[in-house]
Amino acid sequence: MIILGIETSCDETAASIVSSDRKIRSNIVYSQIEQHAPYGGVVPEIAARAHMDAIDWVIRQAIESANTAFDQLDGVAATCGPGLIGGVLVGAMAGKGIAAALSLPFVAANHLEAHALTVRLTNNIEFPYLLLLVSGGHTQFIQVKGLAEYELIGSTMDDALGEAFDKTAKMLGLGFPGGPAVEKMAKKGLIGRFMLPRPLRGRSGADFSFSGLKTAVRHQIEKFSPGTISEKDKTDLCAEFQQAAVDVIRDRTVNAIEIFREKQRTGGALVVAGGVAANASIRKALEETALDHGLPFIAPPADLCTDNGAMVAWLGIERIRMGLTDGLDFKPRPRWPLSELSRK
Ligand code: KG4
Ligand code: ZN
Repeated sequence: MIILGIETSCDETAASIVSSDRKIRSNIVYSQIEQHAPYGGVVPEIAARAHMDAIDWVIRQAIESANTAFDQLDGVAATCGPGLIGGVLVGAMAGKGIAAALSLPFVAANHLEAHALTVRLTNNIEFPYLLLLVSGGHTQFIQVKGLAEYELIGSTMDDALGEAFDKTAKMLGLGFPGGPAVEKMAKKGLIGRFMLPRPLRGRSGADFSFSGLKTAVRHQIEKFSPGTISEKDKTDLCAEFQQAAVDVIRDRTVNAIEIFREKQRTGGALVVAGGVAANASIRKALEETALDHGLPFIAPPADLCTDNGAMVAWLGIERIRMGLTDGLDFKPRPRWPLSELSRK
């Protein structure tokens, strides 16, 4: 089976061809970072227009570099939510158009489910597993029991961790996206010079809260008179911020593993997905915590942790194999929690 996957829910216009033997035949990602950088974050209207400009070219590239043709496809999957609705509509309409023209099965892909199943494409692992989805829009632990069987174990009560990285970077003038910039600065910085909180550390449950951490960063910056914060100050603040994130992740993951274990006595793995999973310190903390608790740790390669079309194509393969296809009248959904996904 050869499937085209289309992803347009945030600031990447992406398309990919994946086959059911787990081969990624092509994976084209057109990033809009340069267009959003002057604003320090993703601007929905700019994103929607940029997706419209790029979508045809990106899909064509995916088909050509996979050495395939539209009439070789066995199905189409396109992200239909959750995400910025202007972008989602562009990808969903393109996918539906191709499926309609070629009379192919269509999968209305949930972006979170696509992240959740990526590890089955890259590492061929069995259900169930414990997933930490940590991106610019989400920070949650999910028990992945099977296809379309997800249980939320913990979630952020306010900001996502990626958002906290992005806002910290913006306040320090480090550009967008903030995660990689903060990580780079943190490598040179001193942990402990600035004091930042570790929200919810030591509390029961596996929820997160990052808005207080973000506010604490702002208070530290405001202590400097305008224009006097040095490069060294910025690196030390980034180091402390990243360490706070690592400490919180470690603490919450221990609790999430305990909750997962109560439901699932044997087997399993800790899996990470989403853009923040590209952070080496966070990966290391997750790996150590998993191993301490007797769980294997699995992280897809960084380019498949951030948004891409291959994860959407793979979700298409998993769903089409089970007969879980969608009608072309499926309405894209800006909000679409995993808990609302069930077998139809
Ligand atoms: O999954 P993703 O590509 O898009 C969605 O949000 O769905 O994740 C992007 C997020 C951004 O907030 C970005 O700053 C963060 O992932 N990120 C990182 C790193 N690389 C990307 N955060 C921390 N460290 C990184 N190295
Ligand atoms: Zn994502």
